[in-house]
Amino acid sequence: IKKVAVFTSGGDSPGMNAAIRSVVRTCAYHSLECIAIHRGYQGMIEGDFEAMNARSVKDIINRGGTFLRSARSMEFKTKEGRLKAYNNLKENGIDAIVAIGGDGTFTGAMIFSKEFGIPIIGIPGTIDNDIVGTSHTLGYDTALNTVCDAIDKIRDTASSHDRLFFVEVMGRDVGHIALNAGIGAGAEEILIPEENLGLERLLESLERSRRSGKTSSIVIVAEGDNIGKNVFELKDYVNEHLPFYDVRVSVLGHMQRGGSPTCFDRVLASRMGVKAVESLLDGESNKMVGLLNDKMELTPLEEAIKGHTEINHELLKVSDIMSI
Ligand code: F6P
Repeated sequence: IKKVAVFTSGGDSPGMNAAIRSVVRTCAYHSLECIAIHRGYQGMIEGDFEAMNARSVKDIINRGGTFLRSARSMEFKTKEGRLKAYNNLKENGIDAIVAIGGDGTFTGAMIFSKEFGIPIIGIPGTIDNDIVGTSHTLGYDTALNTVCDAIDKIRDTASSHDRLFFVEVMGRDVGHIALNAGIGAGAEEILIPEENLGLERLLESLERSRRSGKTSSIVIVAEGDNIGKNVFELKDYVNEHLPFYDVRVSVLGHMQRGGSPTCFDRVLASRMGVKAVESLLDGESNKMVGLLNDKMELTPLEEAIKGHTEINHELLKVSDIMSI
């Protein structure tokens, strides 16, 4: 291969810029040309390309978001859209791709690579940590720290006013952010999609907290939880059944996706970028780079997106014990 394209797609996550930087510099190191594609698959269709060199990516390792920007392209879901994209790549002499994103990005990559035979390696970038084949996705560690910090702040006001807070955190279908940040910030209860605590047990737990002398409480709710009520409905439910609680709701929202990446995410991004480009040089394709037992490993894209990430049951027990 001679010319590698890199792009980011789907929801952004902290560390994506550091990963782009790593891909660009690894290309320079191996004397490969590198082209950045703006706005993901949509930019590929529109030919929104920019030649990169090692200096094009200066001063971005510490920046959140993605300077290449991201998009969710409907056109790329059509055969015509993908053909346009392929023709643009061919005209520009691009013969391999590094795709940075989550499951939607990898699904598109698999279809595209099979259709046109272009080698693609994926880098998992999403705050949700819902990709199989890596213990950490890019941005997850930063999001955990952001959420932990936000809950610390909520705790200050919760305890000042003797209040119960329901705090909704991101994680479309998984509870990794909720569980880990919840333990880190000392939440009383954590509601995640992988476990249904049940409304009865939630009430019991809140009553027990009150009886044990706690004057304020924080319950973390993963946005994809399955208790059957959203945070606002939970507030109403608790108001109705435990009127002694003064309840408030805080939905953290997209602030969880922003901010400067932690050192962990910067190092991870740098390692993943090197491994991605060197895997292409080794003739690999349709695989994702990931961190497993502190080593960079490859997992077929198909497995990465189809599998289910497991919740760590030890953490559930730790959370239970800590909230006694
Ligand atoms: O997948 C990352 C994520 O932030 C999820 O946690 C969340 O459900 C979703 O993206 C939000 O997507 P959007 O930015 O399109 O609203």
